[in-house]
Amino acid sequence: MKATTLANWESKLRPLVTKLPPQSVVSKYSSGRLDFLAKLKQDVPSETYFPSEDLSKEHWGIRFRTPIMNSAGMFKNGECYKMIARQGAGAYLGGTGTWNQRKGNEKDGIYLPFVPYPNSHSASNWLGLPNDGDEVNSQRAQKLERIADTPIGWSIMGSPDFQGEEKLRYLVQGMRLYEQAGVDFLEINESCPNTAHGRPQDDDMANRLRYVKKHFLDQRTRRLPVIVKFSNDTEVEQLPALLDILFELGYDGVNFGNTSTAYDRRKEKIEPNERKLFDFYTHTFGGGVSGRPLRESSLELAGRAFEYVRAGSPSQEFHVIRTGGIETWSDIQDSERAGISLNQWYTGYFENFAKNGHNVYRQLLENSKQKRAPSHHRVTF
Ligand SMILES: Cc1cc2nc3c(=O)[nH]c(=O)nc-3n(C[C@H](O)[C@H](O)[C@H](O)COP(=O)(O)O)c2cc1C
Repeated sequence: MKATTLANWESKLRPLVTKLPPQSVVSKYSSGRLDFLAKLKQDVPSETYFPSEDLSKEHWGIRFRTPIMNSAGMFKNGECYKMIARQGAGAYLGGTGTWNQRKGNEKDGIYLPFVPYPNSHSASNWLGLPNDGDEVNSQRAQKLERIADTPIGWSIMGSPDFQGEEKLRYLVQGMRLYEQAGVDFLEINESCPNTAHGRPQDDDMANRLRYVKKHFLDQRTRRLPVIVKFSNDTEVEQLPALLDILFELGYDGVNFGNTSTAYDRRKEKIEPNERKLFDFYTHTFGGGVSGRPLRESSLELAGRAFEYVRAGSPSQEFHVIRTGGIETWSDIQDSERAGISLNQWYTGYFENFAKNGHNVYRQLLENSKQKRAPSHHRVTF
């Protein structure tokens, strides 16, 4: 069975399957997700969809065909570039990669635990950064032949298997490999601002960012934008300090953001009939919540970040990316009005894929023809 057919059938069964006992739902979806991804790798659309030219954006000298691309974690080992490019995505993002190969998490006999909350347009995952390692994946990146000028970005992160200086050295070594492999931009997965004491300038994260500046940003041999992705749980009050560091150190953009661990807050957006499953998953595995419950947070954080960038006028070209709960063209319009340069999606992508198969970007973007956002209108917070 093809990935498109499987996704479509599965989406119809989802609301029923998720009523089974929670442990078996998680078990079924965790293995089902892997089977589905294996099928997806084989499934390449025969034609390329070329989105309307006026949807394209030029940032950092890179042309993005549209303002939306996949977010990190979807193609951890560089799979499916051809598929994504033919579907009409604005760019392709590989990773998150780590220096060493990682198998990922397993608990209670469940490997790479994942569960959807279909009625809430949400999901939880606790994968633990499974990937084949930077050496292997940068070689894969190098072999990807550009299709329809679709840019390639890569998400990277200091491996949790190393500490201190060693961890940073390997992070930079990995970044160099992707630089040499010819990727167009890099995204550092720095999703825990870890700033409980409110001074990000002084903590580990700031030291990591400074290290990367000294050993990578300052030594780039070509124009290679490096953006930093934070959590959607970032407090609005943390934005000025976080952005000031990025401006000062010469980073090229910010992404809000990654999944949430603020379970009580996100649970309010989970439909009552899926809360038992949500509680089971978050108590048993923890992990990150994705999808619609993040929509307002991502818009607010990215929108406010844009306002701060505009007011602060950093000397480098600096862009804000929004990730979290994006499902429709109207979400992208919201981003546009808030000054956000690019969007990424994961949960919404697969939901739309189940309905529209490889027309996933076409369906999303064709709606833009009827409802183009007036460019003068800006959201204020
Ligand atoms: C199964 C899964 C795996 C993910 N893996 C990563 C990852 O490796 N790196 C990363 O930065 N984000 C990862 N994410 C987070 C997404 O990139 C995205 O930030 C988050 O899901 C919010 O977007 P969404 O609401 O469109 O799903 C993952 C998300 C999911 C659902």
